[in-house]
Amino acid sequence: MASGDDAIHGREREFACFDEVVAEVAAGGRRTLVVCGSAGIGKTTLVDALVRRARVAGLQPIEGHCLDIDAAVPLGPVIQALADLPSGPPTHARGPAAATDPPPSGISGTVGMVKESPFDRLRAELTRAARRRPVLLVVEDLHWADPSTQDFALALARSFREPLLLALTFRDDDLTRDHPFRRRLAELDGRLGVLRLDVGPLDAVATAALVQRHTAAPADPLVVAELGRRAQGNPLFIEAILADRGPGVPASLRDLLLTRVRALPEDARRLARAASVGGSMIDLPLLTEVVGLAGLTEERFDDGLRGLIDANVLDPRGDQLVFHHALIRDAVSGPAPERTGPPARHLRAADRRTGGPWFHSQHPRPEHPRPVA
Ligand SMILES: Nc1ncnc2c1ncn2[C@@H]1O[C@H](COP(=O)(O)OP(=O)(O)OP(=O)(O)O)[C@@H](O)[C@H]1O
Ligand SMILES: [Mg+2]
Repeated sequence: MASGDDAIHGREREFACFDEVVAEVAAGGRRTLVVCGSAGIGKTTLVDALVRRARVAGLQPIEGHCLDIDAAVPLGPVIQALADLPSGPPTHARGPAAATDPPPSGISGTVGMVKESPFDRLRAELTRAARRRPVLLVVEDLHWADPSTQDFALALARSFREPLLLALTFRDDDLTRDHPFRRRLAELDGRLGVLRLDVGPLDAVATAALVQRHTAAPADPLVVAELGRRAQGNPLFIEAILADRGPGVPASLRDLLLTRVRALPEDARRLARAASVGGSMIDLPLLTEVVGLAGLTEERFDDGLRGLIDANVLDPRGDQLVFHHALIRDAVSGPAPERTGPPARHLRAADRRTGGPWFHSQHPRPEHPRPVA
């Protein structure tokens, strides 16, 4: 079974970028790498490859992980990462500057009479470590971090002076319009030394290589084309579909795909459900008619649609709307009964009135509604 870089397909551009920034930091520089992309697109896999490169180049890699829980400990991921630092002797290599170093954490919480904040203490600890040896600090899934962890990362990107490669990952499709991390992220955009890496879908060649690795046989072009249509280059989705083998949405992906839909008010969920029974492009005039028949006013329609766009369930494409991912559409339209969607008789009525093929779904539509949640 392939491992390390051999198990990663189609990421040559990212690897080239890693080689460049690792070399810069090994030579004493500072860089911030922001790795972002959809859930399952391969951010962690890439960061693991970055860690391997950093190690070979002599950097000290340390990692902190932010979790999807409300009770996040302030600065928890930073504390977790710094705990991996080997405790080395205090550095005096830089002469006078070292004399102004705050004391190591855990030894004293004060500098003179002024109480040192955990923020300053952790930063001082990182400073000492980076003076001993260039550091790669990875903070994974920063969109879930507590505000102090996000502030810490931003402060490092802005003003850290020692050899450091700061690698931050986040899920961009989790960044709803009013997500608090958006504002912080904007502070990084365009800043000197900050490089943003948008991780995109695997192409057909990489998809075929992934299929071949999983099935231990050359990939059938028809299977690759089918996976391209359903998984749209997302390696997690490709793996789940290969493991599931069925024609529907793999059970292992349902919660992930529906999280953002479930968090929306009922009108938005009804709209998502109504939109999901059409093709990949959403026919807005037809959708308006269908939900109008189901009793949704124009104002509620507009609010619901805005909610779906703000939550990255639907994306504008030109003057059209599409589902953010084909599998979200499939999961929303799923085969189980839908309680909150427009009744099937309304859909059929709209079909008759517009002559449109509203029922172009592979799955038979149930008569009884079910909640998307
Ligand atoms: N380029 C790739 N080639 C082959 N397999 C990959 C590639 N990228 C990711 N994978 C596989 O896809 C799955 C998801 O990858 P990964 O966990 O890195 O995604 P992620 O973007 O970090 O997801 P999340 O948003 O949930 O953190 C893993 O099983 C991984 O091995
Ligand atoms: Mg990840």
